[in-house]
Amino acid sequence: MIKLKQNVAKSLLDAISKAFGISEGLPDEVQISMMLEYPPDDSMGDLAFPCFKLSKVLRKGPPMIASAIKDVFACDGIEKVESINGYLNLFISNNYYSKLVPEILAKGSNYGKGEEGKGKTVVLDYSSPNICKPFHIGHLASTVIGYSLKKIYEFQGYDTVGVNHLGDWGTQFGKQIAAYKMWGDKATVEAGGVDELVKLYVRFHAEAEENSELDNVARAEFNKLENGDEENLALWKWFVDISVADCNKLYKKLGVTFDSYNGESFYTDKMPEQVEALKKSGLLKIDKGASIVDLSEYNMPPCLILKSDGSTLYPTRDIAAAVYRDRTYHFAKCIYVTAAAQCLHFAQWFKVVELMGYDFYDKLVHVPYGMVSIDGAKLSTRTGNVILIRDLINAAVEKVSAVMEEKNPDLENKAETAEAVGVGAIIFHYLLNSKIKDIDFVMDDALSFEGNTGPYAQYSYARTCSILDKAGDFVCDNFEISDNSEKELSKTLSRFGEVAKYAADEYEPSIISRYILDVCVAFNRFYHDCPILTAEEAVQKSRLALVKPPNIVLATALPHICLKTPRKI
Ligand code: ARG
Repeated sequence: MIKLKQNVAKSLLDAISKAFGISEGLPDEVQISMMLEYPPDDSMGDLAFPCFKLSKVLRKGPPMIASAIKDVFACDGIEKVESINGYLNLFISNNYYSKLVPEILAKGSNYGKGEEGKGKTVVLDYSSPNICKPFHIGHLASTVIGYSLKKIYEFQGYDTVGVNHLGDWGTQFGKQIAAYKMWGDKATVEAGGVDELVKLYVRFHAEAEENSELDNVARAEFNKLENGDEENLALWKWFVDISVADCNKLYKKLGVTFDSYNGESFYTDKMPEQVEALKKSGLLKIDKGASIVDLSEYNMPPCLILKSDGSTLYPTRDIAAAVYRDRTYHFAKCIYVTAAAQCLHFAQWFKVVELMGYDFYDKLVHVPYGMVSIDGAKLSTRTGNVILIRDLINAAVEKVSAVMEEKNPDLENKAETAEAVGVGAIIFHYLLNSKIKDIDFVMDDALSFEGNTGPYAQYSYARTCSILDKAGDFVCDNFEISDNSEKELSKTLSRFGEVAKYAADEYEPSIISRYILDVCVAFNRFYHDCPILTAEEAVQKSRLALVKPPNIVLATALPHICLKTPRKI
């Protein structure tokens, strides 16, 4: 469709010059192609060109412009043109769509792929949980949105680097170490893993509420850690290993991977250089003993760089990490996926990096997402009142297993498929709506096999596989579109390339999720309206040939939103 739009734009420009005898002051081809719209309903054509913006340059009313263009417009692939209310409605020929099918078949998994990213690198910072704290459903959002963006950017031709910026440094480790020294023991932590560490952490907070002296103890322990105390370093390393191993189990279930696990601690020796640079540039101010960068000129509270005891902070580590990533990867973009609660944090240190004179400041992108709740209940950390992602996944997989046991008891790989569908249901639910909207997770909605769900999408894909498996090998040399639902399906498939690019431009996996649903709906309608296996041979082959393209597009698009593609459900 991208190509067709380009051709249409070129032909429109020719037609405008011809009809009005001018070529100056007109929008260019790219602008025209961006002005093309998809009409809300078929009767208004497949593409529409609004003539309102031209009215200024051409000094004529939009309806008159539309009808003048109509008289001279001609373009390959467009079979009919209508001018209505200042719009030029364009009808794409069946022949164009008929040619699309062999194109998709030939390109296979490369169909829709973009090239803008060739030779460029995008760094993506996602998941990034805090060690020793529970991995909650909020972090799941960062994990799946971030990994999905990684796939989406790869599809635009970029090299990508996925970084798990582990929260493995900071005062909370003082608390964790203090708690362990007071109440923990090796055997219990070894047996209980992260759950035990979280218990200790939660207990620390509860007791510190009563006894504020504990906070001083924790601060002292963190200070020792920052100064390289061996005992504390060993404990810290042990806690990190336990936590990371636990997270890795989850990543494996989700199919999410990283290229680097350089967490906050990795930047310990890289921060002094940035603190020095801040001092030298005169940006660093002392405020009540702490070192800050004043951002009042930019309507933001100050960015904290060092506490009064000299210990570093979250922004300090982010600044050092950004410089390191720029030097290591020479990124075209560095994308950070976190909860919207961190918007100010990113705005602040992005500004500091800009003030420091780093030229990569405008390549930093914060991608925030909304609040996550389950069945309406908001989440709170710290108190231990969190819904662990592990429990959520287990519940989903159990429910899917029960449904499958009833509907398809003879299925091979039952356990594996139930996990793919159960996990997929949760992810899809996360990625269905614009990321900045709050997500309320309702289990029964997410798991339904009908409606806008992961199971529906995966099931539709499995249906394409089963039809193709039943058909066996076939050759169709004479593909033709004859029915309206065939055309609708082709039209939906033709949009994949531009949808994929749009999702990258907007940092929005939900654009892919919505598109997947469009493909599934169009495919299921075609399947319902156009009998395949009972049709006469020529029609049958032609229809079968139309099952393969949605199969290809879904096989490519589902992994873009972290969904697996079981061939049988
Ligand atoms: N660990 C942080 C948290 O859980 C998220 C880190 C995001 N990445 C970053 N470079 N700041 O809230």
